[in-house]
Amino acid sequence: MNFDSWTAVDHFIADALLGPDKVLDEVLAESEAAGLPPIAVAPPQGKMLMLLAQIAGARRILEVGTLGGYSTVWLARALPPNGELVSLEYAPRHAEVARRNLARAGFADRVEVKVGAAIDILPTLTGPFDFIFLDADKAGYPAYFEWAVKLARPGTVIVADNVVREGRVLDPSGEPNAVGVRRFYDLVAAEPRVTATAIQTVGLKGWDGFCLARVER
Ligand code: SAH
Ligand code: DHB
Ligand code: MG
Repeated sequence: MNFDSWTAVDHFIADALLGPDKVLDEVLAESEAAGLPPIAVAPPQGKMLMLLAQIAGARRILEVGTLGGYSTVWLARALPPNGELVSLEYAPRHAEVARRNLARAGFADRVEVKVGAAIDILPTLTGPFDFIFLDADKAGYPAYFEWAVKLARPGTVIVADNVVREGRVLDPSGEPNAVGVRRFYDLVAAEPRVTATAIQTVGLKGWDGFCLARVER
């Protein structure tokens, strides 16, 4: 098996279970036209985020790392009518594209994109959030996880993207992203309030993984 087959199977899954999606096609087209990097979650993963948030019964969702709002739209689709989503994004240009995409998707009233370094914005937020998705700079994951636990309640679900990164999680060189992801695993493992696992994934974004954690108390 190789990248081409992973991509073909992702397209098969999307055709079989996701179907056409004009809104999300536009989100990706607008993001590409604006020159944003093509690093949004894959469609089957986006729908999994939506389903996990729905299964958790999430009314308040926090996302760290918006990019053009692709995963944000999937998560916003999980919200009940009185729900709300806050998404944090460092790059003003990314946030601007995301806000346009979210408005076009009909979520302007329930989603707020806050611009700045997540580490500066997280202390200003009021919890609890029911579902938290970590997907910004990987060196920041340890700090984002600690804030996620502070902003959680018993039952909150925390998902983190890119916890395998083509196996670079095992990179011994001291590269900051790898160090951040490894330190994130250590903190998750040492946090008595959470129960967690991670799974490897393959698909049109290559070989990577999701970490799934539940705050117990
Ligand atoms: N969740 C998106 C992809 C996010 S890509 C999706 O799946 O559709 C990672 C994003 O995190 C980028 O837009 C990047 O600008 C942002 N980012 C990087 N460092 C950050 C920081 N310190 N604080 C907040 N966002 C950051
Ligand atoms: C990168 C970031 C992501 O969130 C992702 O899913 C893939 C790549 C990156 O910064 O390279
Ligand atoms: Mg990611």
